[in-house]
Amino acid sequence: MLENFNEMLNKAKKGHYAVPQFNINNLEWTKYILEACRDLNVPVILGVSEGAAKYMGGYNVVSAMVKELVKSLNVTTPVCIHLDHGTSYESCQKAIDAGFTSVMIDASRHELAENIRITKEVVEYAHSKGVSVEAEVGHIGGTEDNITSTSTNATLEDCQVLYENTGIDSLAPALGSVHGFYKGEPNLDFETMEIINNNLPIPLVLHGGTGIPEDKIAKAISCGISKININTDLQAVWSNAVRNKLENDKEVYDPRKVIGSGEEAMKTRIKELVTLFNTRL
Ligand code: 13P
Repeated sequence: MLENFNEMLNKAKKGHYAVPQFNINNLEWTKYILEACRDLNVPVILGVSEGAAKYMGGYNVVSAMVKELVKSLNVTTPVCIHLDHGTSYESCQKAIDAGFTSVMIDASRHELAENIRITKEVVEYAHSKGVSVEAEVGHIGGTEDNITSTSTNATLEDCQVLYENTGIDSLAPALGSVHGFYKGEPNLDFETMEIINNNLPIPLVLHGGTGIPEDKIAKAISCGISKININTDLQAVWSNAVRNKLENDKEVYDPRKVIGSGEEAMKTRIKELVTLFNTRL
């Protein structure tokens, strides 16, 4: 069942658990994630970066693929197709027009006033189409879609000003997490996370979910995180399984067998993450 993320995240905020955003890269990944979450009976947000959308043939292709898979795999659990880190109003508009049910507008590289201006425009268009919106305050650095940047942490004041002036549905405050693998132990500012959560009525999102130790994931959820984004983790799990297959089976050449050799490892990891996030309906 395709829907925007409002109900799933508001339920998660009340119930003190987190909904996973798993980023997709192709048809097989989408199928594995949908099957795993259907069988685990949990909601899921399929994250699509601009780069991944381009790779798969554009927003319309991704949207049609997800819709058809949801139907043919009999997925009755809630599913959201989400633009991850939309960099402009135009990009968000295209995703919305293609049928995405939520978008993230990431104008965090701009000054706060400009971030607010762009985010507000996206919210107006998205809400007129029943689509939910996530925004970013501060800047979450690291490496994503092959782009590397440095982080700036969010403050409560900036989060409040952005929320009050835009009407966003969820917020990703940068509080020490990064995209990609961590160098050393992740240093998350739980105190500010909790303060932001206590002062904002909307669900909070944790980007850079890969490599955060289990106790810190639990702490983040207890400080108000309702959505956790996972990309690199599944990429690494899938690649390791496929590499193993290719090294151990020199005869294999059927792409279905090569790509599919990562399925079991991905599904096992999805189950572990969903259990860790305590995700439920
Ligand atoms: P990771 O690649 O670190 O899991 O981060 C994913 C993410 O935050 C997508 O927006």
